[in-house]
Amino acid sequence: HGVFAYDPGFLSTASCASSITYIDGDKGLLYYRGYPIEQLAQHSDFLEVAYLLINGELPTAEQKAQFVSTVKEHTMLHDLMSNFYRGFRRDAHPMAVMVGVVGAMSAFYRDSSDAFDPAQRDIAAFRLLAKVPTIAAWSYKYNIGQPFMYPQNRFSYAENFLYMMFATPCEEYQPNPVLARALERIFILHADHEQNASSSTVRVAGSSGANPFACIAAGIASLWGPLHGGANEATLNMLEQIGDEKRIGEFIERAKDKTDSFRLMGFGHRVYKNMDPRAAIMRETCHEVLNELGLNDDPLFKLALKLEKIALEDDYFVKKKLYPNVDFYSGIVMRAMGIPNSMFTAIFALARTAGWTAQWMEMIASPEHKIARPRQLYVGPARRDYVPIDKRV
Ligand code: CMC
Repeated sequence: HGVFAYDPGFLSTASCASSITYIDGDKGLLYYRGYPIEQLAQHSDFLEVAYLLINGELPTAEQKAQFVSTVKEHTMLHDLMSNFYRGFRRDAHPMAVMVGVVGAMSAFYRDSSDAFDPAQRDIAAFRLLAKVPTIAAWSYKYNIGQPFMYPQNRFSYAENFLYMMFATPCEEYQPNPVLARALERIFILHADHEQNASSSTVRVAGSSGANPFACIAAGIASLWGPLHGGANEATLNMLEQIGDEKRIGEFIERAKDKTDSFRLMGFGHRVYKNMDPRAAIMRETCHEVLNELGLNDDPLFKLALKLEKIALEDDYFVKKKLYPNVDFYSGIVMRAMGIPNSMFTAIFALARTAGWTAQWMEMIASPEHKIARPRQLYVGPARRDYVPIDKRV
């Protein structure tokens, strides 16, 4: 009692036991429930992966059909939630809107709010998976002043998201299947990543038995930071700022300069000391999408490839084992699809909702479940007596 380890940033502390995701950072391996991410990205689809993360096994055809159909039952938002949007400034960042609206689900869906009731947890999981794409797409529509588009259950998960982002009531809209497939892959790659900052946030928030929707909103808040999910938006902004291959050297030097707070966005990872396997798949997806759209000469993609090459040959990056992470190429793919930079992290949040939900369910159902209550190393003043205001100097 009273003896504990001091580990700021959790560099060497396992906060839980989990059977969801496995990462070997030295070898660059990522498995969901034992299945390599490369196989899932190639053969699976997002809802199947969500099922796998939450339930532990790939579904049979019948289980999958049932799961997809239940998700589809829940894709609409309560109509009064559209009023909630209208309280935001028109230019509100989609992540700010996501934090608010997902949090507000706790007020709208009170019959699936009891974390200690397994049946309510299941409904909460379906509602989250089904409604987060609608919430994300509407945050974009609100920004650009177009009417909200209702979900279309005849489409796949990714097609429906593209529809809600880009369709208008004025004309027919048919999602491009190649782009939908690429987006589905982006969703799969982002679906879970064990105990990262946002998943840990969801677990800590949820450990008190708090409302599941409020816990996911807390995860979204954590994801937003530029060192975490915000890095995809920051990477694209950085590439735009670099603008020309001639300026790469200048930015590499800045990233190495310890007096400059600038970091090479989309590079480095706490766990991967090798290529992030998601970045390799994403680079391939970049080629496919740009090819489909006739954008093979996309200057930003060329710039990114060149930047990667230069960084990987640079002593500083080699010594510190800094490799591209998932966020390095994802922005280029999404931008080519016509998705604005400000939506990148919202799309990450949409996909990570599957992982957050799985992590939250594993945490709350665990026989070892305890409220998360870290200790601290107190470094403040020793006991002292109150000084009346007229005696203070
Ligand atoms: N550019 C330049 N230097 C870097 C970078 C970078 N991108 N990343 C790490 N370093 C340096 C850092 O300055 C430190 O140097 P020193 O030992 O001299 O102080 C050393 O490498 C170790 O970095 P750290 O910050 O102690 O490592 P960490 O494990 O705490 O941080 C990280 C990991 C991802 C926050 C960090 O690599 C970073 O800030 N990367 C840029 C942001 C980014 O791309 N984030 C996305 C991560 S993957 C997806 C996700 O999680 O959402």
